[in-house]
Amino acid sequence: MSLVYRPARAEDLTAADALVVASINDLTTRHGFGPMATPSAPNLQLFSLKDDPDGLWIAEDDGDLLGFAWSWVCGDLWFLAQLFVDPAQQGRGIGNELLKLTLEHARTSAVAHKALITFTFNRVSQGLYIRHGLFPRMPIYFLSAARERVMEGLPEPALQSIPIDGSAATMETLAEIDSRAIGLPREKHHRYLLNDPATTGVLLCAGSDYVGYSYVSSSGHIGPLAVREVDDLGVVFAAALRMAADRSCETISAFLPGTCQSALSLAVSHGMRITFPMLLMASQGFGTWTRYLPRNPGFM
Ligand SMILES: CC(C)(COP(=O)(O)OP(=O)(O)OC[C@H]1O[C@@H](n2cnc3c(N)ncnc32)[C@H](O)[C@@H]1OP(=O)(O)O)[C@@H](O)C(=O)NCCC(=O)NCCS
Repeated sequence: MSLVYRPARAEDLTAADALVVASINDLTTRHGFGPMATPSAPNLQLFSLKDDPDGLWIAEDDGDLLGFAWSWVCGDLWFLAQLFVDPAQQGRGIGNELLKLTLEHARTSAVAHKALITFTFNRVSQGLYIRHGLFPRMPIYFLSAARERVMEGLPEPALQSIPIDGSAATMETLAEIDSRAIGLPREKHHRYLLNDPATTGVLLCAGSDYVGYSYVSSSGHIGPLAVREVDDLGVVFAAALRMAADRSCETISAFLPGTCQSALSLAVSHGMRITFPMLLMASQGFGTWTRYLPRNPGFM
């Protein structure tokens, strides 16, 4: 037995995804939610590795993968996208060591804020994050429903949509919306989504004013979504629901912060059900989103 911690390499990422899926499903099944995760190509992990390799770490023993941590930095924000330990190896200090390595990534990047999204029902992860100065800030619910149910009575879109392209003008508009919604521009992440063939992004306009943007994936998942003004959240989320409903997907889903009341009310009134309760944890001064719906706990 020789437990080592080392930087992750591109060839580790498929096995790391399998470990993450097994660890999530072990946790969600133990808590009565049933399995939540399915394997997928580690595209965002690979993108992060190329962008900033200091955030991805592996714990292994004689070639066996025991744990994986992945953080990314964007502007002033360090975000812990994943921290997972093999279920058979939990509780022996591996998660704590991996977290320390990724927090070193935050320290050397000299960020102002640190944040992550975890499972509300995981006492271990929350206790570990509190130990390292990341505190519970805001509930985030994963809601979903059958497409047919969401479509019932869905209003016709009140906004015009313009496909997001890679032009400087579009990136400037997105940067301005993100800066108001979450305090930082995320151009590299918009460019990542632009290259994802399974995702469509649009700017939403009222006349000649851009009020927000939304992405919708071919599976019917909404997010990220952001608005310039809190009062526009409901109408932008309604447009995103319509975009999702126009696809040939079976279900429609989204992550909705507890502070995004108009979107939550609309989701529930269209039959969407709380499937997984999640939680934003962050260092001081970050994390009350009233104008932003994250894509998932890894992308934010
Ligand atoms: C969360 C996870 C990564 C932690 O890794 P781990 O190797 O099991 O954790 P460690 O043994 O390093 O540390 C556990 C620490 O959690 C804290 N902890 C555990 N239970 C706790 C509780 N009920 N209340 C408060 N703190 C608690 C303690 O600080 C404990 O350390 P200690 O035993 O030395 O006091 C791992 O358990 C895991 O993969 N869980 C399932 C997936 C998951 O939720 N990942 C986080 C996604 S954001």
